[in-house]
Amino acid sequence: MRLVMLGPPGAGKGTQAKRLAERRRIPHISTGDILRAAAAAGTKLGKEARRYMHDGGLVPDAVMIGLVQERLRQPDAHGGFILDGFPRTVAQAEALDGFLAANGMPLDAVVQIAVPRDELVGRLAGRRTCGTCGTMYQVAVSQGPNGRCDACGGPLLQRDDDREETVARRMSVYERETAPLVGHYRDKGLLREVKGTGSRDEVFQRITGELR
Ligand code: AP5
Repeated sequence: MRLVMLGPPGAGKGTQAKRLAERRRIPHISTGDILRAAAAAGTKLGKEARRYMHDGGLVPDAVMIGLVQERLRQPDAHGGFILDGFPRTVAQAEALDGFLAANGMPLDAVVQIAVPRDELVGRLAGRRTCGTCGTMYQVAVSQGPNGRCDACGGPLLQRDDDREETVARRMSVYERETAPLVGHYRDKGLLREVKGTGSRDEVFQRITGELR
């Protein structure tokens, strides 16, 4: 299965993509995770990406297109993949269309997860990620950035771009740059729209129902 997960920041793309990828035994390719790993490692890509991510902007298309094409050429993606966070602009979507067509790898579906804005803002404010194993948590916002991971005892950290002012910028960048992809994929007959509210299990059931 070749899938794209679409939706605003905090919609649950990463949460659902991880679970779907485990079930289907295909790679979950998150461009946000790739960029954060590069930033943590201090690579040239990471240093460049950090400047854009910190302010809630987008890393330039040319960088992202090259990065994803290289990832899709890896052998583990030949049997399918779930893209999370890419494409994010019309230019990225068109480059992906061309790459997949040229390589005989058509998409099966694009899942758009819809969540009201108020809930998105609350989810991002309360998101904490274990700095050791990457497990994600939701905390009461008043709890602050402290706490330990239940799974491994690592420190729970707040993502740099989950600060209130950066979230507002990410939302407007999404509306301007990424929301037009809904029409792009609807026109191609690939779009599957799923309500992203309710429990993680409920959302997962809706997605698997749409993909059946
Ligand atoms: P990226 O990491 O892709 O961030 P994003 O798209 O803003 O998405 P998020 O990771 O914030 O949210 P999500 O939808 O994955 O939700 P999640 O499952 O985490 O990108 C970060 C940055 O990298 C970008 O801003 C940009 O700078 C750069 N970048 C990345 N790709 C790029 C590209 N292609 N081009 C250019 N730049 C790029 O869930 C959110 C929270 O909600 C979690 O705490 C989770 O536990 C919780 N949650 C999930 N589901 C539920 C539920 N059903 N109920 C309650 N809580 C839930």
